Amino acid sequence: MQNFTFHNPTRIIFGEGQIAALNAEVPREARVLITCGGGSINTNGVLAQVQAALGDRAWFVFSGIEPNPTYETLMQAVAMAREKGIDFLLAVGGGSVIDGTKFIAAALKFEGEPWDILEKQAEVCDAMPFGSVLTLPATGSEMNNGGVISHRARGDKLSFSSDATYPRFSVLDPTVTYSLPSRQISNGVVDAFVHIIEQYITYPVGASVQDRFAEGLLIILTEVGPQALADPHNYSVRANLMWTATLALNGLIGAGVPQDWATHMLGHEITALHGLDHAQTLAIVLPAMLSVRRNEKRAKLLQYAERVWNIRQGSEDERISAAITATRVFFERMSVGTRLRDYEIGGGSISTLVAKLEEHGLTALGEHADVTPEVARRVYQLAV
Ligand code: NZQ
Ligand code: ZN
Repeated sequence: MQNFTFHNPTRIIFGEGQIAALNAEVPREARVLITCGGGSINTNGVLAQVQAALGDRAWFVFSGIEPNPTYETLMQAVAMAREKGIDFLLAVGGGSVIDGTKFIAAALKFEGEPWDILEKQAEVCDAMPFGSVLTLPATGSEMNNGGVISHRARGDKLSFSSDATYPRFSVLDPTVTYSLPSRQISNGVVDAFVHIIEQYITYPVGASVQDRFAEGLLIILTEVGPQALADPHNYSVRANLMWTATLALNGLIGAGVPQDWATHMLGHEITALHGLDHAQTLAIVLPAMLSVRRNEKRAKLLQYAERVWNIRQGSEDERISAAITATRVFFERMSVGTRLRDYEIGGGSISTLVAKLEEHGLTALGEHADVTPEVARRVYQLAV
């Protein structure tokens, strides 16, 4: 196991009815800006629960943070927060709202042009305190310090992270996921699955705890994913899905092990260029990525095949191919297409995607920094 420091300051308040706990979590004198998306929290009653819990605190609502949140929209929230004298942010939504709120929190305390946080990776030393009420199990943003922000005008989708951008707390009530469209459940399962893979299928470092933990989480997703689609009001299924997605990217399974993240980086360029959902891009890229890099990842792919999919027959290459196929079949069982053509995208945009990776300096990706633009091109080509 490699050396590591593990620190996660986010408090999790989990379970049915726990939105009421906001009353104890949000500072009593706070002037609160509730940040949210396009309206789901109005129709499913979540906003009403939040407002009831905040009681007589001064609160305001900034709505309209879109999926793949944009700099342009978030800067409007920054202006509103300044105008209203806000001192606490409360993100109520999925990964886009929570990521967007991390950026708002950082931008409010940043000297200079906030886009530099993304483009120049300018250091974020301070951020306004914020909490979250999670409505979509997927990204893990509710218990990590990362955010992914798009710049609409420039066609960029870039990430940042900082010690200052962990949520103070996150409320995870599985019943608020009952109103999710099946497409978002599918997306969430695929995203969480790929987060685990990015931290697990690299090369062995003798980290048995992280490996067995990752394998357990992957197996749970293969079980609860289809159940969550078939039985949308099953509390136990939604609770296990929600907690798995949080643990998939809260730093625990990634501590002390090499990490990849090339699939995510190639996926972000597809979203920026073609507007696909984040998880759709991962379902497209991952099977191709594992195929192209099967030699570098051989030992962990064989372990994955045996322990997650129970594949024990055949030569090494046959077992690896079977595991990649099982992964693809699982994503398709979750109704997420695994090839660019499933989204009516051909190979014509591959050169643009590769050029964007180069423009963003993403030319040495992966746990061995060997995913060059040429390797990325082969992955995109295999994903057509
Ligand atoms: O906007 P509203 O009306 O709220 O509708 C949303 C949105 O349309 C809807 N939704 C959310 N909760 C709902 C609901 N509809 C009904 N009932 C509910 N309870 O779902 C739609 C998608 O929401 P979004 O937040 O975009 O989805 P997700 O949570 O998958 O977040 C995706 C974003 O997170 C980033 C992605 O790149 C993408 O921008 N990621 C963030 C990460 C992180 N911070 O660690 C890591 C990930 O790899 C990922 O990159
Ligand atoms: Zn992701």
